[in-house]
Amino acid sequence: MSGEIKISTNASADLSSFLKERSFTRLAVLTDENTAVHCYPLVKKSLPDHKVITVAAGEQNKTLTTCSEIWKAMTDQNLDRHSLMVVIGGGVLGDMGGFCAATYKRGIDFVLIPTTLLAQVDASIGGKLGIDFENFKNHIGVFQLPALTLIDSAFNKTLPPAEKRSGFAEIIKHVLISDRTLWNEITSKEFDSQNWERLVRHSIEFKSRVTGEDPKEKGLRKILNAGHTIGHAIETHLLSTDRKVMHGEAVAAGLVVESYISVKKGMLKQQEFESISEYVLKTFGKVGIVKADIESVVGLVRQDKKNQGDKVLCVLLEAVGKARYDVEITADEVTHALMHYLAVQI
Ligand SMILES: NC(=O)c1ccc[n+]([C@@H]2O[C@H](COP(=O)([O-])OP(=O)(O)OC[C@H]3O[C@@H](n4cnc5c(N)ncnc54)[C@H](O)[C@@H]3O)[C@@H](O)[C@H]2O)c1
Ligand SMILES: [Zn+2]
Repeated sequence: MSGEIKISTNASADLSSFLKERSFTRLAVLTDENTAVHCYPLVKKSLPDHKVITVAAGEQNKTLTTCSEIWKAMTDQNLDRHSLMVVIGGGVLGDMGGFCAATYKRGIDFVLIPTTLLAQVDASIGGKLGIDFENFKNHIGVFQLPALTLIDSAFNKTLPPAEKRSGFAEIIKHVLISDRTLWNEITSKEFDSQNWERLVRHSIEFKSRVTGEDPKEKGLRKILNAGHTIGHAIETHLLSTDRKVMHGEAVAAGLVVESYISVKKGMLKQQEFESISEYVLKTFGKVGIVKADIESVVGLVRQDKKNQGDKVLCVLLEAVGKARYDVEITADEVTHALMHYLAVQI
């Protein structure tokens, strides 16, 4: 298994050197309709003869139907087992394109060039690939590392601001569970004046270390689900309403609500909770849930795929910079924490 992750200031030149070092028989590039316009032109000139496969953008297209399109295009291009696929896109394309490459002819090499902040700090790290199936998110997939991951902030210039903020929630999550000093630095700055280079590097190093120690999520890797047990339930619930939220906004809410549970369990100091709640709410605002949504959100928390039997398991903070996974929480605790979230004034 390879899997070099390179933080690059010139993805085009780095891709070119990689291609010269390794000999691939054929080259395919996968983009979505947006990255074809905004990102592919930045690396196009460094690529030898290749074909571009472009698919529709968005989570709703992270499906078997799109995979069929991709596998068909790969087949039409006569890609053999020594071919390479370069995936230029956000987390949707990285997960799906990597999955297509990892399964085509039992697996060909692929390079990930993540073009959203979320993909740079989260989705492209750790080798989880896959697609959604019948409304189940990431239901079909494999673990496989790319031959190379190139992370270059130059792609972020065209990223819609809301996408950048969504990725910031995953950075906050990584910092909250691992690094108190960096948390203090983050909270001393507004969103627009963060030290992005340092934050991106921290997330990549931290997530690589955790996933390197526990690639298949038997233990430690679960820590990365902080904010997601409740965040994901909120996101899923709101998806069925006209109040949809971005993944990062839901994770931000999840971090606040789960931190409240940590306080109530006596694991986290009130003062630390307040620092988290204040900064996260100031940066992301509140998601539009109301009292009538709570029952459904709690129901979804109970169905979380990380649970064991009837036990709802969650990642809770013991302090800023330190988290514990597999902590059991009850439906009542979730309900109270959501009520508290609803009552907070910002
Ligand atoms: N594999 C993992 O470990 C892991 C971890 C976290 C998230 N994910 C997955 O990541 C996905 C979300 O990824 P995402 O937030 O990057 O969404 P995305 O891939 O849908 O990208 C968001 C939007 O931005 C556009 N875009 C991408 N780069 C751009 C650029 N540089 N300029 C302009 N537009 C650009 C895309 O076309 C898309 O419309 C989810 O499917 C989630 O399951 C995977
Ligand atoms: Zn996430």
